[in-house]
Amino acid sequence: MFVDYYDILRCIGNSVDLISPEVTAHHQQVAYLSYQIGQNMGLDKQACGRLLAAGLLHDIGALSGSERLRLIEEEPFSAGSHAFRSASLLEEAMPLKEQAEIVRYHHLLWENGEGRMYQGRSVPFESHILHLADRVCVKFSRNFNAIEQVPGVFSKIENDIGYRFMPEAVEALKCLKRKDHVWLELMEQDPLDYLPVEHIFSYRTLNVDEILQVTHMLSYIIDFRSHFTATHSAGVAAVAERLGKLFGFSETESKMLIVAGYLHDLGKLSIPNELLEKPTALSDDEFRIIRGHTFYTYRLLGAVRGFETIQKWAAYHHERLDGNGYPFRLNADKIPLGSRIMSVADVFTSISEDRPYRKGMPSEKIRDVLRSMVDAGALCNIVVNVLLDNLNQFIAICRTSQKSEAEAYEKFSAVS
Ligand SMILES: [Fe+2]
Ligand SMILES: [Fe+2]
Ligand SMILES: [Fe+2]
Repeated sequence: MFVDYYDILRCIGNSVDLISPEVTAHHQQVAYLSYQIGQNMGLDKQACGRLLAAGLLHDIGALSGSERLRLIEEEPFSAGSHAFRSASLLEEAMPLKEQAEIVRYHHLLWENGEGRMYQGRSVPFESHILHLADRVCVKFSRNFNAIEQVPGVFSKIENDIGYRFMPEAVEALKCLKRKDHVWLELMEQDPLDYLPVEHIFSYRTLNVDEILQVTHMLSYIIDFRSHFTATHSAGVAAVAERLGKLFGFSETESKMLIVAGYLHDLGKLSIPNELLEKPTALSDDEFRIIRGHTFYTYRLLGAVRGFETIQKWAAYHHERLDGNGYPFRLNADKIPLGSRIMSVADVFTSISEDRPYRKGMPSEKIRDVLRSMVDAGALCNIVVNVLLDNLNQFIAICRTSQKSEAEAYEKFSAVS
């Protein structure tokens, strides 16, 4: 299994942008403008690639809608800021590690060159380009014509040259001022569609182990928004992998099940934190909002070439064998074994975990719930039987995987 590095980067940026519909396509915008500035500074292909990647990843540590809205304001640079949290997430995944330093300092002031260093460490110059691109992007409003806003945005930037922004980057930005297409493209739904970027990464691909690392990191972004779900996806991934093995899945297929487990709730990034953390049972209206998450999982994973099977396994986890599931209301013959495994792993993991409105269930109760969901036409009888035949083993697998995730969550929380 190989996937395109650039597809994954875009998927991460687009996923995180679901958290705040008010600032749509922010990661793509910042990536687009950073790249354009880099090009105008005469940077080489590698540096432009780093800028593009860092732009797509820079705010991944800002995990709530309100925190993301605050990003529109300039946040004072501090060790506890979202930039540091974004960097600590990126350090978890080898293929993204090279962006961590750039992202960590993307709010550091230039201060007439002082910003080349921070506490004795040298700061990548790309951080200052990212900073400028980020501040320019948030000054544009979707409610007005893009070109009309250009003079006003530039006059605001002008006051901060040297103090806030690196002069060479601003010079390069000024070269773009009269290129109308840049500002029109910037305000499009997918600004990156307008850049010939695939040659920059030379069709770089990620192998299966790199995919596991990157998607594991992405599961942190999905889960760490609430301490109730902080270890959920890892639990689902571990349970699904074991179920797959018992059904004779190959080594690669088992790894694909882990990836699907990590990403099955990717679309939950569209759900406001208040709902994820609500201390009482959800109302019908709130549940309707929750139901959208599998649709977004489907859409986001559909953009990653090579993830076609994983997309189905992940996004069908709330389909039911009786055809009454969501979002597609698929009939049983359209629900593959991988998706059935994912559904069972998801229910099993969820009912074992504490939720804001109830405690995790003991094993007898778990048996009753899974059986009744088979009887009701929701879950696959064969998969549930395999799990219940090995129930203690599955409880142990779930606990072990979640223990290490809980430690990662502690570590992440300590950065903030
Ligand atoms: Fe940003
Ligand atoms: Fe779900
Ligand atoms: Fe789930």
